[in-house]
Amino acid sequence: MTFISTSAPGKCILFGEHAVVYGHPAVAVAIDQRITIRIQPSATGIWLLDGGTLNMARNPHIKGLIDKLWPVSEGAPPLSIHIDGNIPRASGLGSSSALSVAFAAALRLARGRWVENEGDSSQNNWAEGFGSSVSGSDAYGESKGFFSQNDQEKMFLLTGENSVDADENAILAHSVEAAAQNGRASPMDSSTCSHGGVVVISDQIESELSYLYRRELSMPDGKQTWHIHELDLGVVSDDVYLVIGSTGVSAPTSKQVAKVANMLKQNPDRMEEIETIGKIARRGIDALICGDYDAVGRTMTENQIMLKSIGVSSPELDALIKAAAPSSLGAKLTGAGGGGCMVALTKNPKITSDAIELAGGRTLISKLGSTGMMINSPNNDAFWTKK
Ligand code: MEV
Repeated sequence: MTFISTSAPGKCILFGEHAVVYGHPAVAVAIDQRITIRIQPSATGIWLLDGGTLNMARNPHIKGLIDKLWPVSEGAPPLSIHIDGNIPRASGLGSSSALSVAFAAALRLARGRWVENEGDSSQNNWAEGFGSSVSGSDAYGESKGFFSQNDQEKMFLLTGENSVDADENAILAHSVEAAAQNGRASPMDSSTCSHGGVVVISDQIESELSYLYRRELSMPDGKQTWHIHELDLGVVSDDVYLVIGSTGVSAPTSKQVAKVANMLKQNPDRMEEIETIGKIARRGIDALICGDYDAVGRTMTENQIMLKSIGVSSPELDALIKAAAPSSLGAKLTGAGGGGCMVALTKNPKITSDAIELAGGRTLISKLGSTGMMINSPNNDAFWTKK
């Protein structure tokens, strides 16, 4: 039977979580752990998730993407969705972003993309879809949807891997993340899970990095703008590893982001601490650009001091960070905190991992900057499109 399969990596934030929500710089790397999605038309005529009925209310990311990319009202058929992977959920490693990116890519493959029939099939010729360089059609607006028969004669249906676009995946994943986090979400997780590698977000265009795009989001306390870049680590990172330690304590990002927002509302002076995190992240970016991993590690440890100060660390995270410190270049919580995971940068992954496990954590080891979204299925013909 026809099926489509895609995957996307999790992410680990090295610098700047929480402050990035307020427009400050941050760095995340894609990790080796991934989520894989497989979709096919449902044989039973109802939406299925891992063999059971799909509960849309309990899966807001999936519902949000179906609403944007799979117009049931136009006759798009129910699908059977399977999710597999080794990114622990609600642990700060981007499992929901990886899921959203992989699912957006799978739906795009399943539907194909209409392209204006003139010249090439670059993003500027998209007749429908979500892209930051297509005027009037971004994730916060409407897709152009479908066309009359007349219009369609001037278009062709692009299918297969060329119909998928990392920028569109990131935009769509960001929009459903923002909805799940009560309107407050940076594009950090979605961009990293889609593009892979090392992603740097900044409040300015960084001339030493390759520029991807600008993102804007209207949040409850005003509009935020981010500049998103890729950083090429080259071969320098060959002997450094990330050891990620999970506390096993589930900590939803939305709650942690709301906690920081409340703290700032009650005490606006504490925005200074958020600004300090931004300054530390900027030093971390410089250290990464120079390939100075000793400085990267030290800067991560400094970042942890500020994360603790704004109240997003926890006793469990502190214990794992302390255990990792002697054998690593630096360690901090990663993601939203309150539980979830910590990360150590180390040249001794086995020793660091054993120390974290001895302190009660469960570890994952990853290189820095894994591959972004991938298409796994051998045959990627669209299996539904408006005639
Ligand atoms: C979550 O992985 C990172 C936060 O900074 C939230 C966000 O960037 O949207 C806590």
